[in-house]
Amino acid sequence: MSLPPLLLPKAITHHIDALQDDQDLVFSVQEYSFIALKHAGKLYLYRNQCPHQNKRLGTEHCLDDSASLIECQHHAAQFLPHTGRCISGPCQDMTLTAYVMKQDQSETFLIEAT
Ligand code: FES
Repeated sequence: MSLPPLLLPKAITHHIDALQDDQDLVFSVQEYSFIALKHAGKLYLYRNQCPHQNKRLGTEHCLDDSASLIECQHHAAQFLPHTGRCISGPCQDMTLTAYVMKQDQSETFLIEAT
């Protein structure tokens, strides 16, 4: 189920802007949890929800020890950071739900990517 556009608090956008390559951030907007990560100089945003059992991938960080894959803390499914596609684990070939940030005047919204 798609979420409506979510207003991103400025404090969160500052944290996202400050991410360096191979760093991630888990954050919440309303009751929804997301992850932001920088990989090869690009920012990626995903819903923090594993397609295996719809649990949160992680509570503080979601990148694995090598910082090259997103890893679920429950059953170790691993996802490519630039596509969100699961490459190993119980939900192989399923994908995380990607989001983008959209600027509207002075506000920033989190919107599901199409
Ligand atoms: S809930 Fe993520 S791998 Fe099972």
